[in-house]
Amino acid sequence: VNEEFGMNVKINCQETILSSEDIKRYKAANQSNLSEIDQGLYSDNMLGWMDVNEWSGEADCSQIVSIAEEIRENAEVFVVVGLGGSNQGARAVIDALGCGGTGNGRIEIMYAAINISPNYMKKLIENIGNRSVYFNIIAKNFQTIEPGIAFRIICKYMEERYGEKEAAKRFIITPTLYDGALHKIALENGYRFLPFPDNVGGRYSVFTPVGLLPIAVAGIDINKLLDGARNAQKDYQEGGPIACYAKEYALWRNQLLQKGYSIEVLAFFEPELEMLGKWWRQLFGESEGKNNNGIFPAVCSYTEDLHSMGQYMQEGKRQVLETFIHVEEHGSDLVIESEVKFNDGFEYLDGKGMNEINECAYQATVKAHYDGGVPCSIIELPRLDEYNLGQLMYFFFLSCFYSSVLLGVNPFDQPGVEQYKAEMLKLLHGER
Ligand code: PA5
Repeated sequence: VNEEFGMNVKINCQETILSSEDIKRYKAANQSNLSEIDQGLYSDNMLGWMDVNEWSGEADCSQIVSIAEEIRENAEVFVVVGLGGSNQGARAVIDALGCGGTGNGRIEIMYAAINISPNYMKKLIENIGNRSVYFNIIAKNFQTIEPGIAFRIICKYMEERYGEKEAAKRFIITPTLYDGALHKIALENGYRFLPFPDNVGGRYSVFTPVGLLPIAVAGIDINKLLDGARNAQKDYQEGGPIACYAKEYALWRNQLLQKGYSIEVLAFFEPELEMLGKWWRQLFGESEGKNNNGIFPAVCSYTEDLHSMGQYMQEGKRQVLETFIHVEEHGSDLVIESEVKFNDGFEYLDGKGMNEINECAYQATVKAHYDGGVPCSIIELPRLDEYNLGQLMYFFFLSCFYSSVLLGVNPFDQPGVEQYKAEMLKLLHGER
């Protein structure tokens, strides 16, 4: 681990898959594509995420923190209403830092509008029970059907439960300002709102009010998270390690794609990272999966998934590359009892900590997969905290940007998502 900087990225590939000459040639051929980004010559009106402070400067953060404090004082449940980029960044951070769920006096964070299941929605309302609740409705366009459905149901529920005036105080809206229906609704009904930046796409929005309010409500220090992202941004602008890591990672995966490695697994040994995996999957999948091209992103949570996907990783079709997130330092450990009353055959574990065993599993998996022909890269994080997550997520934004440009696709749109929506609308309008 690069102690001064924080995270570290190691790219590894078998000489038989990519020779060092291949890599040099590919780098040289793509240099100009990447420097177009670095020199600010890539033009797009969705680059607002690159400057972390644009949407999370001091004043923005103190407004977010003060709303979050009010919610934490008054509510036992906070429901985030939104899907895709409108919730995954926040969920990733909240889960990674162990701030989801209940217990320890924690406010419970729930997620609505992530599906169209009536059972899920009924259970969510049932689970709120008679606990005090606030809602954050997040939508960039407010044409997506899931938040549309949820908002109607929730408005009725809240007005019946609290009356119109009190319900209004318990809604925080995160809409695109000025031209969207949701912003208009907020203005007309006196709901408080925070901006959904018009120059930031959903999946790039975790460092804006979209991600920051739920994260702050979960009790996480958003300034530390933003410090990690700001540090990554500064480092990128100064041509430091982040710029180099992001480029190397993007070049590695694109070159492998050309060699037929069209699936990338993001793997980790900390189950708290499952939502981060989903967030990463959305970021790369929605940004790159275009023109019948792009790497298919998948997620494996080890060691559990070693007992399901491990077989394929080791001996299946050689089309998978693997990126490990490795956390170096852990806050707590659990030591295996050495004085047991039975002969269980596990004496070799006597007195060992679970962290040490997990570390062995990680090292063994990298070795076995690499030796089995899987190109592996490793992202080392000193520890799982706000700062390192901020740095990691900014790194992924940047590498996704580079990687999409290398692939020749627009990293910020998702035209394909519209196709199924159009078909669904036809059905709902009785046109078929
Ligand atoms: O990354 C994106 O822009 C998308 O995943 C959107 O976040 C997602 O489709 C939800 O869109 P909206 O917030 O407009 O409902």
